[in-house]
Amino acid sequence: MISSIPAPLAGRVAIITEASRGIGAAVAIDFARRGCSHIAITYLGNIDAAKKVLSSINEISSDIKTALIRADVTSEMFGQDVVKAALSSLAVNHIDIVVSNAALSDTKTLQSMETHTKEAFDQFMTANVWSPFQLSLAAIPHMGRGGRIITISSVASRRPNVNPMVILGATKAASDSITRALAAAYPRRTGITINSVAVGPTNADALRMGMAKLPKEWTEALYVRVTAERRIAEVDDVTGVVSWLAGPDSKWVNGNFVPCSGGSMLELQG
Ligand SMILES: NC(=O)c1ccc[n+]([C@@H]2O[C@H](COP(=O)([O-])OP(=O)(O)OC[C@H]3O[C@@H](n4cnc5c(N)ncnc54)[C@H](OP(=O)(O)O)[C@@H]3O)[C@@H](O)[C@H]2O)c1
Repeated sequence: MISSIPAPLAGRVAIITEASRGIGAAVAIDFARRGCSHIAITYLGNIDAAKKVLSSINEISSDIKTALIRADVTSEMFGQDVVKAALSSLAVNHIDIVVSNAALSDTKTLQSMETHTKEAFDQFMTANVWSPFQLSLAAIPHMGRGGRIITISSVASRRPNVNPMVILGATKAASDSITRALAAAYPRRTGITINSVAVGPTNADALRMGMAKLPKEWTEALYVRVTAERRIAEVDDVTGVVSWLAGPDSKWVNGNFVPCSGGSMLELQG
């Protein structure tokens, strides 16, 4: 019997934003395992963590061409800059997969609904709505049939959120709306698919810091009791769904909000 290693992403060129840590890092490494030939990741300040991700990728295969891009999701030019830098650092003229994972969810910027400043509101909108929107628009002209854009959304997009998650949830809802609009506008001409993955509470730095700020009974109610298994996700619970969407088997899934939250949205599913 011939044994084979499944490599559904063989030869694909991928960009993953915010991939020095958390979900983005795990997705980048999973893409390497599944055969991507070119992987560009972005980070903000933690270059050591970002370099570790690239080392893990090259431990899987030293043939994978990688690129490290420093980019701030709160910058108005984030999307265009990332696409430009990825094409030039990877020395390619096309992109197959974009995982638009970067978002502002830093607990330092989360505020109460009643006292939220306009300045912080605008920063959230730029980072979580404008930047993924511009990233998609900048990438699409470089993508061909079979291309994939996957935006990492949140269960907070559809929940009646409580402080301090209200504005963060609203930005995710706005971004999901743009995902649907892009999917309606572009795939007919381009053959690419555009979806969002609605992640629930996941064990990554942003959530850990957020939990530390909230009273224990809140974190229990908000994050733990809501999933069917009564636990938060590990990043590996999420990567398989993103990788499946990035691959050929998901070709008829388009414009969707794909929940990946351990059943935490059961009550919203009617
Ligand atoms: N974790 C959850 O519970 C959860 C739940 C729902 C949705 N999500 C979504 O999942 C995505 C990833 O979140 P995560 O929890 O995996 O994050 P995380 O572990 O906290 O990772 C932080 C990442 O964001 C980068 N970063 C921080 N500030 C940035 C900025 N201003 N511009 C660009 N990059 C910046 C960091 O770069 P450095 O390492 O260089 O600092 C690092 O790569 C986000 O879209 C988030 O909204 C997460």
